[in-house]
Amino acid sequence: MHEFKYKGNDFYCESVKLKNLVKRYSTPLYIYSYNVIAGRFARLQKAFRSVSALICYSVKANSNLSILKCLVKLGAGLDIVSGGELYRAKMVKCPPGRIVYASVGKTEKEIREAIEYGIFMFNAESEQELDKINTIAKRLKKKTNVSLRINPDVEPKTHRYITTGKKETKFGIDIDSARKIFLSRRKYGNLNIIGIHIHIGSQVITAAPFIKAIKKIKSLNDRLRARGVLLRYFNIGGGLGIVYDKEEPQTAHEFAQRVLPLLKEAGLKVILEPGRFILGNAGILVTKVLYVKDIPHKRFVIVDAAMNDLLRPALYGAYHKIVPLFRRAKSQEPRAKSVDVVGPVCESGDFFGKERKLSVKKEDYLAVLGTGAYGFSMSSNYNSRRRCAEVLVKGNKSYLIRERETYKDLVSKEIIVDI
Ligand code: LLP
Repeated sequence: MHEFKYKGNDFYCESVKLKNLVKRYSTPLYIYSYNVIAGRFARLQKAFRSVSALICYSVKANSNLSILKCLVKLGAGLDIVSGGELYRAKMVKCPPGRIVYASVGKTEKEIREAIEYGIFMFNAESEQELDKINTIAKRLKKKTNVSLRINPDVEPKTHRYITTGKKETKFGIDIDSARKIFLSRRKYGNLNIIGIHIHIGSQVITAAPFIKAIKKIKSLNDRLRARGVLLRYFNIGGGLGIVYDKEEPQTAHEFAQRVLPLLKEAGLKVILEPGRFILGNAGILVTKVLYVKDIPHKRFVIVDAAMNDLLRPALYGAYHKIVPLFRRAKSQEPRAKSVDVVGPVCESGDFFGKERKLSVKKEDYLAVLGTGAYGFSMSSNYNSRRRCAEVLVKGNKSYLIRERETYKDLVSKEIIVDI
């Protein structure tokens, strides 16, 4: 699915020349391809069609309302983790029966609002949380569905900050404790504890750790069934990896081929929560080269986007390809040099790429690829920088889906006390 590509020397998103978007909306600018979003969603849907899986897009990956709206229209449910994400889900009219809610720290207000909206299911992560959901449901005179998030203790072989299914992480409930909770489920009068949830980590590029986790859950399910506990749902979380550089991740089809036999044996309705798989390669961050600065033995390309716009390189040392928006004819091309692409923020961790072979001049534009997921959604106002505008492209049309913030937006909630 190559919706970001050169036609001649110009970089395009679908049929839109990106130079034109930059002229219209300025930089830094996030640009997303509708076709990639819809195509990736369709691939997963197709791969899991034989079990009619419910695919709940993980809102945290990119929570722009227009993007959520597109996915909900395509039939996706939503995986939410906060009252704010529930608010977004309501704004795009996601049917409540397609919303699942995870998070180790749901507050009373968040739980109440989710029950009132009638969400499909909570993924609960501790006994105290179960007590709390039960008490609130009772007060509201409702019964609510719950899956237990289980920590299967498997190694997903990804960055340690996004490893979530090992026993030393804060997530989920260990298998033995979960078994006891299932056996004593009747004490929670206002909960239907009818499912199991796992999410082992993010950017996981092989099926092996999923298989390991699913096998552990299957054996728990078998033991529970023998004791008369009949579960109905198995939410296998998100985590499917994508190509940033030279990774060779499993395709949706390959992944499904590996996990489906096990899931079918378990006989539970399957739920998935993909985020990065759908959005990661659907977005780019376009930035302008402000200066090219040479110091002895090194060249810095200083751009107008920064770590506040895209945190992944600073936080995880993540790799993102960087390409020019316009390729000069070979004869005019200065020899490519090894450069560090950095932002204006006052931290040495503020970089997008190190030692990249790029030939750039000031006032060129660069595209940082693979930034559709966990790009804008992790952005901040650090250094009092206004957050970016976002544009969605479909065919030859482009839509502004978030305006660039103003200075006024920056201070809109602040109160000057003169003391
Ligand atoms: N379900 C749960 C319960 C999750 O915690 C997550 C992500 C997902 C689903 C979606 O995972 P995905 O399919 O996108 O891998 N900021 C990091 C990624 C953090 C992921 C957090 N949880 C990054 O930029 O790599």
